[in-house]
Amino acid sequence: MSIAFLLLTVVFNPWIVDSESWYDSYCNKNPYEHKITPLNANDESQVEALQQVQIFIRHGARTTTSSIASYFPNAKPQQFNCTIATVDSRQYDNTTGQVSVRKRYVWNENVVEGNCAVGQSVNDLKMQHTINAKLIIEAYINATVALFDEAELLEIRQQIIEQKYSQWRQKIEFRSTDMERTLASAIAFLSALLQLNDPIVAIDILTHDSQTDPYLPTDKNNYCPDLGTWFHEKS
Ligand SMILES: *[C@@H]1O[C@H](CO)[C@@H](O)[C@H](O)[C@H]1NC(C)=O
Ligand SMILES: *[C@@H]1O[C@H](CO)[C@@H](O)[C@H](O)[C@H]1NC(C)=O
Ligand SMILES: *[C@@H]1O[C@H](CO)[C@@H](O)[C@H](O)[C@H]1NC(C)=O
Repeated sequence: MSIAFLLLTVVFNPWIVDSESWYDSYCNKNPYEHKITPLNANDESQVEALQQVQIFIRHGARTTTSSIASYFPNAKPQQFNCTIATVDSRQYDNTTGQVSVRKRYVWNENVVEGNCAVGQSVNDLKMQHTINAKLIIEAYINATVALFDEAELLEIRQQIIEQKYSQWRQKIEFRSTDMERTLASAIAFLSALLQLNDPIVAIDILTHDSQTDPYLPTDKNNYCPDLGTWFHEKS
């Protein structure tokens, strides 16, 4: 049995307004509204067991991709206050004798007003992906037809803590695009899925450079060229 989680980013224009509620729906303000559900009775009658689950999850709440003023030219000046800090470390354990660094974006000297990068994650993301992880547990682990049970999840958790990558990798795999917002989403999601809260625990997550990433709509996407074509047709 295996499970693969993918955290990806898809770029398209959110400012095409279909209805008044577009914001709540597009931004997944209430993750329970579109929740992944367990197999229903009809599904269960058709399968003997779950062998594999692949879950694609979009990144959580983030800042805009252009200045706020470009969307609301007549509004009072608005600013984002980014409180999720990116801490960058080259330390794998506490024996290498190096500190970590915390990024601070210089106030009002970036594309987006405030102290954030373009598309940087904001606080709501943690709530969204914590709930998403609980829903996944309910749907595929704590369920009648489960991919694996809680004991097996705890075993994986222990192997992750002990850095036994070759062991847990046989059962579960995590992937993300190499973006702050998707990695921040992964951190929130995996902390809740695995009930881990110690920053010294590093969970291996597979990624690509943005030029070749199969989950990004780029011209050089050799794995999924249709994604690039789709993106150019939409924009
Ligand atoms: C940003 O948010 C933090 C945490 O809530 C707060 O301490 C800080 O004063 C805020 N900064 C601004 C400029 O509003
Ligand atoms: C490094 O971490 C280990 C395991 O958590 C701990 O036993 C040890 O005291 C730590 N060493 C230092 C220098 O902090
Ligand atoms: C799984 O379900 C049981 C029974 O409803 C509950 O007590 C337990 O907390 C659930 N576990 C998780 C991880 O949600």
